[in-house]
Amino acid sequence: MTLSRATLAGASATAAAAAAILIRREQTRRATERFAAAALETLLKAIDANDADTGAHVRRVATYALILADAADLSEHDCKSIERVALFHDIGKIHEAIEDIVREPNSLSPGERRAIAKHPTVGASVLEPLRVFYPDLPDGVMAHHERWDGKGYPRGLKGRRIPLSARVVAIADTFDAITHGRPYRSGQTAAVARRALIDGRGLQFDPELVDLFLFPPVYARVTRAEHALEEWKPPVQKRRTGREEDESVPDITFRWRPGRSASRERQSSDPMPQTAR
Ligand SMILES: [Fe+2]
Repeated sequence: MTLSRATLAGASATAAAAAAILIRREQTRRATERFAAAALETLLKAIDANDADTGAHVRRVATYALILADAADLSEHDCKSIERVALFHDIGKIHEAIEDIVREPNSLSPGERRAIAKHPTVGASVLEPLRVFYPDLPDGVMAHHERWDGKGYPRGLKGRRIPLSARVVAIADTFDAITHGRPYRSGQTAAVARRALIDGRGLQFDPELVDLFLFPPVYARVTRAEHALEEWKPPVQKRRTGREEDESVPDITFRWRPGRSASRERQSSDPMPQTAR
């Protein structure tokens, strides 16, 4: 059987249309990825701009957390989720210079303690708009001061009810809080941090994760990373490239005024010119 010329032309037009759809879909996926990465990098830069020490701290915590996640053989998805929770776990402190209760429990007034206890909730609320893209992020941040024995805050979650990302970050956060100095005290040795993790095993921390963190080959990776990160400086980031010339970024509507959307504003008699909004 031979196919007519018209049939062949029709088949090749269909194939070309399918290819065009696939290319468009791939371009959209790449643009979405770049937009999401830019949003997270902007958040991280806001942390750096507010307090460079916190910027360095969250990067060290993310480094240790990823070593532990890798040792636990977690999926790529879980590792990415842990990385995000580690980097943004203290974003609820961005507005004021408060320190973790776990770091200096005796020098805080009751008012300071109450303020500190709010930072996981504040952080989760800051990150809430990203839940649609990263459903685990606000909950992981909210839970990073929960304790394995249920005596943590803000919700008193216990054991495996605490999100895995928060259990991993709690260990990495404590290791860094002890080994790196604060304005009110100098950093202590890795041996002191190791002792604190052993003491908190099954009380403050997930016991299996502590065992894995202190497993000699894993712990050796952590201490090597600690030395490598000692002299951390913010990298000079090159301008993001890869945007195609014909790729336009839509003028999106986003929620910044209570109860009003940009489309409703356009219909209103608000005299403010659109460019000033
Ligand atoms: Fe914290």
